[in-house]
Amino acid sequence: ELSPIDKAKFVAAKQASSYVEDGMKVGLGTGSTAAWLVKCLGERVEKESLNIKGVPTSSRTAALAREVGIEVISLDEAKWLDLTIDGADEYDGNLNLIKGGGGALLQEKIVATASDQMIVIADASKQVETLGAFPLPIEVIPFGWQTTKTLVEETLIGMDVLGRRVSLRMNGDAPFYTDEGNHILDMHLNRIGNARQLSLVINQMPGVVENGLFIDICDVVIVGFGDGRVETRD
Ligand code: A5P
Repeated sequence: ELSPIDKAKFVAAKQASSYVEDGMKVGLGTGSTAAWLVKCLGERVEKESLNIKGVPTSSRTAALAREVGIEVISLDEAKWLDLTIDGADEYDGNLNLIKGGGGALLQEKIVATASDQMIVIADASKQVETLGAFPLPIEVIPFGWQTTKTLVEETLIGMDVLGRRVSLRMNGDAPFYTDEGNHILDMHLNRIGNARQLSLVINQMPGVVENGLFIDICDVVIVGFGDGRVETRD
């Protein structure tokens, strides 16, 4: 028996898996909700002989996809994807997102951008009026990361945000490393007044590879509830 939160993630994932059709090339997201999706798709591959190719957004998802019998190819082999299904840390009324809580934002953003459609699956707790309560992750290269952090903090002074604390993401006593060998800075902004502008400004800074704001990328959010209900926002 699933807990309400797992039930919510599962029903959203299950619904999203029905968007996947035979022959599709599908981007596979990262995180606990996306893991349900990968399992649902694995089941369809097995039971319906569904013929799909999956492009994972992290080493974790690649391992899970192989485990459940989904054929895994690289993005460059796929060239273009029909659909990407992924989780999110926050989504707002315009379907703009914060992602990267799991540290996979860079590959996730590349894969989602290379897809005809992006579907986000989430439980209702991820819905916000204004983005920013969840710390916004940015991926930075390890070289000079402390200098980059200082530059980010100074740049935030001129931005429409409520908080400005920036912290290096850790993995125990050591800095966290992404699949691409980079670090993550988590920006505690509380409220992001102008997400589009912030995203552009942050990505201009040397040392920054990408940020976790997904603006105008997501097409549909499928929201799951603990009682098994599902709602679609588009
Ligand atoms: C991974 O880097 C993130 O973007 C995830 O999509 C996000 O953290 C959602 O994860 P959960 O589904 O586990 O909440």
